[in-house]
Amino acid sequence: MTRSLLRPFAILMICSLAGAAQAAGNPDAGKTKFATCAGCHAIPGYTNAYPTYHVPRLGGQHADYIVTALKGYQAGERQHPTMHANAFQLSEQDKQDIAAYLSSFPSATAPYPVQGNATAGKAKSTTCVACHGADGNGNIPLYPRLAGQYEDYLRKALQNYQSGARKNPIMGGMAKPLSPQDIADLAAYYASQPKGLVTVQQE
Ligand code: HEC
Ligand code: HEC
Repeated sequence: MTRSLLRPFAILMICSLAGAAQAAGNPDAGKTKFATCAGCHAIPGYTNAYPTYHVPRLGGQHADYIVTALKGYQAGERQHPTMHANAFQLSEQDKQDIAAYLSSFPSATAPYPVQGNATAGKAKSTTCVACHGADGNGNIPLYPRLAGQYEDYLRKALQNYQSGARKNPIMGGMAKPLSPQDIADLAAYYASQPKGLVTVQQE
């Protein structure tokens, strides 16, 4: 008696769970929607015109963080005119689909070369571990992966938090005490991690 009553419920539960997963983001749709982004984000080594720093790697980044970043550009909380223009028209579903696509890329298998002192950066990264993981591959979806990100982009991000150009209460506080040398060392450490982010490749 109980069992026959429960079964339809169980089936309903499974259906609604599957529905929820799909609503969160469709990587195939995201791949198509990413076409307008590929001109900057799918070219290894591509740089922002001025100031010059690499366009960030997005392959393997956490989906929730990507959605937050795109909302930040849309709202103008994160100021970058080109990214504002690119993010402006994305719907909630577009952002979810693109995020599902980008987060589906597997990690790099070898470390990227860096210029700074990664060993010094490792020693300075103890205050970052709780949120970004020991090697910059933290598991918290809202906190970005840093491993394998471009060294000069990481430096720029930390400088922007420090100056207030990029507003985030947590990272503003974390960046405040860092010296220029600390920023260079930390960027080198995270950029040089194996198992890092990758540049999106669209065939
Ligand atoms: C003209 C080049 C260009 C195009 C086109 C472009 N981007 Fe970007 N994107 C950039 C640059 C430069 C940055 C770094 C901006 C900054 O410093 O905040 C960036 C940053 C980002 C970030 C934040 C990454 C992070 O680690 O915080 C995301 C997410 C992103 N772009 C997604 C997209 C998507 C999705 C599209 C297409 C709808 C797109 N971009 C189109 C140049 C571009
Ligand atoms: C309490 C959690 C927390 C700690 C500790 C923390 N971070 Fe972050 N970090 C975040 C969050 C949340 C974001 C995303 C903020 C945003 O949306 O701009 C972030 C973003 C970043 C970014 C930008 C990445 C990108 O793709 O644009 C860098 C770089 C960074 N953190 C470096 C560090 C370093 C270096 C330390 C240690 C000195 C550190 N963080 C400590 C939570 C933390």
